[in-house]
Amino acid sequence: MNTQPLDAAATESLLAFWRDAGVDACFEDAPVDRTHVVPPPAVKAVAKATASVVAVPDAGDALSEARRLAAGAGTLEELGQAIASFEGCPLKGMGATQSVFSRGNPEAPILVIGEGPGAEEDQRGQPFVGEAGLLLDRMLKEAGLEGQVFITNTVFWRPPGNRTPSPAEQAVCAPFVERAFALLQPKAVLLLGAAAAKSVLGTDEGIMRMRGQWREWRLSEGAVSAPVLPTLHPAFLLRQPMAKRQAWADIMSLAARLDAGD
Ligand code: URA
Repeated sequence: MNTQPLDAAATESLLAFWRDAGVDACFEDAPVDRTHVVPPPAVKAVAKATASVVAVPDAGDALSEARRLAAGAGTLEELGQAIASFEGCPLKGMGATQSVFSRGNPEAPILVIGEGPGAEEDQRGQPFVGEAGLLLDRMLKEAGLEGQVFITNTVFWRPPGNRTPSPAEQAVCAPFVERAFALLQPKAVLLLGAAAAKSVLGTDEGIMRMRGQWREWRLSEGAVSAPVLPTLHPAFLLRQPMAKRQAWADIMSLAARLDAGD
């Protein structure tokens, strides 16, 4: 193995080579659980000695902080700023460039929730602006729903290598998703793909079973509720074009529900 140190230009050129070849994330040979942060021994000792005074950040603290920040946002714009300032989602430290909150009409009757930002979204700071987003926009336009959607995701930082966000990552971002729902007060919600449907509806059912079936999403305080429709994720449709027929039927059902005004 060549163990010569690389200079900056050579490193940059090597990275550009791998990026152009489609490699956009680095992994170690063995998996590392970066959601479980073990304080180094010195910090551990201090934390132990002062346990009653110093709170060591954990998932519970992050969730409380997410709830506090979300509740303090009075508009969708403020909610975007609150998300950008949130440090509690582990995805934020896994190579994401920026937070990605929303795109679309802040007074839309439809809330669309996807899984999480991909590479293009991470670069541009908006959800669904890559290939899958173009397909989504085309379908919405064909159904007469252009300009009638506000689009977000279950998590706001790109998962490394575009993997599916974990339930823990989704859970810590959920107060922001719920606040978006409460602020928008949509007439209907469209859930794109299994990860979004499972997270929002709190179920383990498969997407093929759930898609096309209207359910209700009611926040625990009960103040906000709306009919929700799980459907297939546009990225899945790009890989499986035959499934577009089912997704199209779902989008038509959404348009009809909005027309009927119920
Ligand atoms: N896929 C998603 O689920 N969300 C995006 O924003 C982009 C692709």
